[in-house]
Amino acid sequence: MNKIGNRKIVLVGTGFVGMSMAYSLLTQRGIDELVLVDVNKDKAEGEAMDLSHGLPYAANSKMVIKSGGYEECADASVIVITAGAAQKPGQTRLELTAINTQIMKGISEEIKKSGFNGVIVVASNPVDIMTYVVQKVTGLPTNQVFGSGTMLDTARLRYMIGKYLDVNPNNVHGYIMGEHGDSSFISWTNSYIGSKSLLELLDEQGKGLEDLLEIYNEVRDAAYEIIEKKHATYYGIGLSLNRLVAAILNNEDLILSVSAYQNGEYGQKGLYIGVPAIVSRDGIRDILKLPLNEVDQCKFDQSCENIEKIIKETVD
Ligand code: NAI
Ligand code: LAC
Repeated sequence: MNKIGNRKIVLVGTGFVGMSMAYSLLTQRGIDELVLVDVNKDKAEGEAMDLSHGLPYAANSKMVIKSGGYEECADASVIVITAGAAQKPGQTRLELTAINTQIMKGISEEIKKSGFNGVIVVASNPVDIMTYVVQKVTGLPTNQVFGSGTMLDTARLRYMIGKYLDVNPNNVHGYIMGEHGDSSFISWTNSYIGSKSLLELLDEQGKGLEDLLEIYNEVRDAAYEIIEKKHATYYGIGLSLNRLVAAILNNEDLILSVSAYQNGEYGQKGLYIGVPAIVSRDGIRDILKLPLNEVDQCKFDQSCENIEKIIKETVD
């Protein structure tokens, strides 16, 4: 299993998402080395040069930043994969499955050849299916490969509910679950403000569930709206990946809603999908089992069914 030794990160994919994460990593102390890998070698090299020139003013000014090949994975602790095609305006994440499956297979074969035995975090979309492909091809234990999943969706939810109730988003406790996509959902009965039930608080304030349903719709459609306006989303996921890397490197046992391999915790097995899970230095330590009511369980099962259908049609 991965023992965080040299605190070395390999980033595969130096596009908008990858470099947003890379840039935010400079705010973290304790990372020894960041290696940028991309099929476009000039891009990787240029990004490494550009980022390195900011190091004198960064929190972690001694960090080594360079471009390289997959041989750099051999002694790395964490690999983050952000390579692949991104949605065009109006396109769903699931429509990227065919092209990005081929890209993930190629990358995963190279990682396997390197002998890497650390933790892989996948962000490429559709992230639940891409994570499944990476684990299947690398053959790494299922807990050592996981996806960013609904971590970005959950951040959007916490930000929006925090604004709606005028509380710090860090006091909004609730998780978007299921597919990182149109069939995601939130279990309102498992959502809290501080240690108070969200639904009870709303009731006390005379606010109705319809506002929450509107907020959920904004979360679900956020990516489409941003992509229409600026053609890609990257800062939100970049900061999410930055948080994930810190949780792994520092063995934080942090609960995040990520795309974790299902072993039956929610009645589903053999796929990756968004659930609250404990993230540590070896990847997914445990999945947090929330008491889903019948409606939420049905939404979870439907989301899993959607993912399994695409996997059967396109991947397996
Ligand atoms: P981008 O086009 O800016 O960057 C993609 C990078 O991947 C490019 O530098 C390209 O050269 C590289 N690449 C392509 N094929 C490769 C290969 N075989 N090996 C190595 N590198 C390769 O795209 P962007 O905006 O960075 O998005 C990347 C992915 O992240 C997309 O699939 C996008 O949908 C996904 N994404 C996921 C989010 C999430 O919450 N999980 C949020 C935002 C984007
Ligand atoms: C997002 C898409 C791009 O949620 O996955 O930003």
